[in-house]
Amino acid sequence: MRVMILRDAEAVAAAGAQRLAEVVRRNPAPVLGLATGGTVGGVYQELIRLHREQGLSLAHARSFNLDEYLGLSADDPQSYHRFMFEQLFAHVDLPRGNWQVPDGMAMDPRAEGRRYEAAIEAAGGIDIQLLGIGRDGHIGFNEPGSSLASRTRVKALAEQTRRDNARFFGALERVPRLAITMGVGTILSARECLLLATGESKAVAIAAMVEGPVTALVPASALQLHPATTVILDPAAASGLKLAEYYRAAEEAEAELRMLQKEA
Ligand code: PGA
Repeated sequence: MRVMILRDAEAVAAAGAQRLAEVVRRNPAPVLGLATGGTVGGVYQELIRLHREQGLSLAHARSFNLDEYLGLSADDPQSYHRFMFEQLFAHVDLPRGNWQVPDGMAMDPRAEGRRYEAAIEAAGGIDIQLLGIGRDGHIGFNEPGSSLASRTRVKALAEQTRRDNARFFGALERVPRLAITMGVGTILSARECLLLATGESKAVAIAAMVEGPVTALVPASALQLHPATTVILDPAAASGLKLAEYYRAAEEAEAELRMLQKEA
C-alpha cells in the first residue's frame, strides 16, 4: 500500500480527484468505480471544477458505484443514485447510459448482484476504484465478517453504520437495514484502488486496515493484498499509524526519484 499523509481534508480530496483525472485523461475508455459519503463529496467537487475550468471530459468514461440501499428508489432523496446525480453526474458530461449504481428496487436482488458483476466484466473491469472507509473498517457496505472473496450481493448493515448514516435520514429507524454492495473480491479485482479518509473518527479503522492483520473483521484490510492501492489521509486519520514517519519519508524519497528521472 502506498500511504500519503497530506495537510488537510481539502488536499486529500484534491489529490484523489487528481488521480482520477489522470486515469480519465490517459485512458481512451476509462472505467471508474465510484463511492458515496461525506469524504468523497470533496473529490466530486474538485472533478466538477476540473471539468469546468480545465476541460476535463468524462464523455468517454463509464462508471460503476459501489453500493445502494435496498428498498430505496433512484429518486429517493437518500438513495445513492440521487447522491451521485446531485453531487457529480448532473454537473459533468458523463453520458446518462454510461453510469450504473446497483438497483436498490430490484425484485430479485441476488440476480441484480449477478447482473452487476457481469456488467462490470463486460465493460472490461474497473480501472480505478474510489473508496471511503467506515469506522468499523467497511468498504462499500462490506461490514465486518464479510467474505474477503465476496462479489456483489445483499448485505445487512452493521448497527454502527446505521447510526453513522442516521444523520442523512433524520432518524435511525429510517435507515435501511439492507444494502446491495460490490463484494470485497469485486473491489480487489479493480486494477487500482484509491481509499480516502479524513478525521480522527477514522484513525482506528485506518490503523487496522494498513498495519493490522488481514482479517474479515476489518474488510478494508483485504486491500493489503491488492497490488496497487493508494491510501490518502489527513493527519487526524493517520494519527493511529505506527509507521507514519516512514510513509512520509518514503513519499519524499520517491518524489526525489521522480525529479531525477525527469532530469535524466
Ligand atoms: P463517509 O463514509 O465518507 O461519509 O465517512 C465512508 C464510508 O462509510 O465508506
